[in-house]
Amino acid sequence: MATKVFIVFYSTYGHIYKMAQSVKEGVDSVEGCEGILYQVAETLPDEVLEKMHAAPKPDVPVLDPKDLPDADGILFGFPTRFGMMCAQMKAMFDATGGLWMAGKLVGKPAGCFTSTASQGSGQETTIMTAVTQLTHHGMIYVPVGYTFGAGLYDTETVRGGAPWGAGCIAGADGSRCPSKLELDHAKHQGQYFAEKAKLLKK
Ligand SMILES: Cc1cc2nc3c(=O)[nH]c(=O)nc-3n(C[C@H](O)[C@H](O)[C@H](O)COP(=O)(O)O)c2cc1C
Repeated sequence: MATKVFIVFYSTYGHIYKMAQSVKEGVDSVEGCEGILYQVAETLPDEVLEKMHAAPKPDVPVLDPKDLPDADGILFGFPTRFGMMCAQMKAMFDATGGLWMAGKLVGKPAGCFTSTASQGSGQETTIMTAVTQLTHHGMIYVPVGYTFGAGLYDTETVRGGAPWGAGCIAGADGSRCPSKLELDHAKHQGQYFAEKAKLLKK
């Protein structure tokens, strides 16, 4: 049976969705692994999303948190809000109390990727603070480390991403698209993570 890696994301403006698609490419590149995209439920009303100029929601199923135990591993993607995960993703975690009580996610590998408007404004803290959620569930946090190689040492270009996980820089007005380097890092994270999830499943 295939190793199922859920890629559970939230995206207001589409950057994290783009990153999630690259993460899936990386997962699918590993023999016997399948990346399955889910978006988490929106918590903001339509009027607010309209005022925020939010992008239309992608054609991706909305996760029912009760389905998380079906995954062999989970990669969570979320944009930063003041240096931490967005409330929509936190609301998803807040809906996992029953799973926590029954220990349904214990021992499952998990990793994170993120997006910030600018550099030095949450790439690392957003993922670091998310590790508390994984820890309380007894999940095994799988950071990507420096396994991406030279790309992570690049100082010539604006780039997101850290040993904590892939990341992109969206720009203060959201106009910057994830760069090739950032998308390649996301793909690499998907591949690296899937290899570890496959081993753990064995
Ligand atoms: C309420 C709010 C708080 C934010 N806080 C930060 C922040 O602390 N640092 C930062 O770089 N960007 C911040 N941003 C920008 C978002 O992180 C950015 O829009 C997001 O990464 C784009 O990803 P998306 O297109 O997937 O929604 C904030 C945005 C909002 C709406």
